[in-house]
Amino acid sequence: MKIAVLGAAGRMGKMLTSLAPSLGLEVVARVDIADGFDREWPAETEGVVDFSFHAAVPASIARAAIMGIPYVLGTTGLTPEEQEAVDEAASKIPVVQSGNYSLGVNLLLELVKRSAAALGAGYDIEVVEMHHRHKKDAPSGTALMLAKSAAEGRGIDFDANAIYGRHGEPGERSSDEIAIHALRGGSVIGDHTVVFAGDLERIELCHKAQSREAFAAGALAAIKWAADKPPRKYTMRDVLGF
Ligand SMILES: NC(=O)c1ccc[n+]([C@@H]2O[C@H](COP(=O)([O-])OP(=O)(O)OC[C@H]3O[C@@H](n4cnc5c(N)ncnc54)[C@H](O)[C@@H]3O)[C@@H](O)[C@H]2O)c1
Repeated sequence: MKIAVLGAAGRMGKMLTSLAPSLGLEVVARVDIADGFDREWPAETEGVVDFSFHAAVPASIARAAIMGIPYVLGTTGLTPEEQEAVDEAASKIPVVQSGNYSLGVNLLLELVKRSAAALGAGYDIEVVEMHHRHKKDAPSGTALMLAKSAAEGRGIDFDANAIYGRHGEPGERSSDEIAIHALRGGSVIGDHTVVFAGDLERIELCHKAQSREAFAAGALAAIKWAADKPPRKYTMRDVLGF
């Protein structure tokens, strides 16, 4: 399968292009705004893997939709308007979108949902994430997915209960609020902890990425999986089958 990697000069892009051949994928375009990279992908391209920048996504995915080729979207931090462009493209082509392509995080999403359902309202839920100093968006797409899974398990509306950090005098926490905290520093690839804090005990479910290869391998598996799927939006959980 011939693929284009978008954001090819970046941390994820480099990992994707170096890993692709070992998975039977031929990278026919290394697209990036950086010097020495391709500005677009050729007509022979059979799939697109996008780990670039959120503002670039609408134009790229619209082009893939015109060509009728599958799209794996790893780029995070999309605005609501940019997300709309993704959803519109998914009516024409298969689009896999995930804030995290690792096996471990996708399993963790399920564990968090089940834990929130089992523990109930007596356990306060907080999400803490840490990433390297270069990360541009906050909180991470993964932290948002984990918080949404927790809300789903608890049976509460995510948007009505999510808060992003605390400062000043926010007052006592409400039972259902889910606070998300973003730490930045050093070279941390991606750490996520979901805390369930009760009066008598505390449970922490934690994932630490040790290599970007965990995300790249998942994203490349996703583009192969999407090749023969009908137009729709899919998640990495669809790809993994859970
Ligand atoms: N879903 C996941 O599993 C996952 C994992 C890691 C990172 N990410 C996300 O992937 C994205 C990239 O992460 P990164 O750490 O590789 O960042 P990075 O900054 O190292 O790389 C991004 C690259 O995109 C390029 N770029 C910017 N605008 C562009 C445009 N208009 N067209 C083409 N390329 C453009 C930049 O020049 C840069 O080389 C971020 O949104 C990040 O949050 C997702």
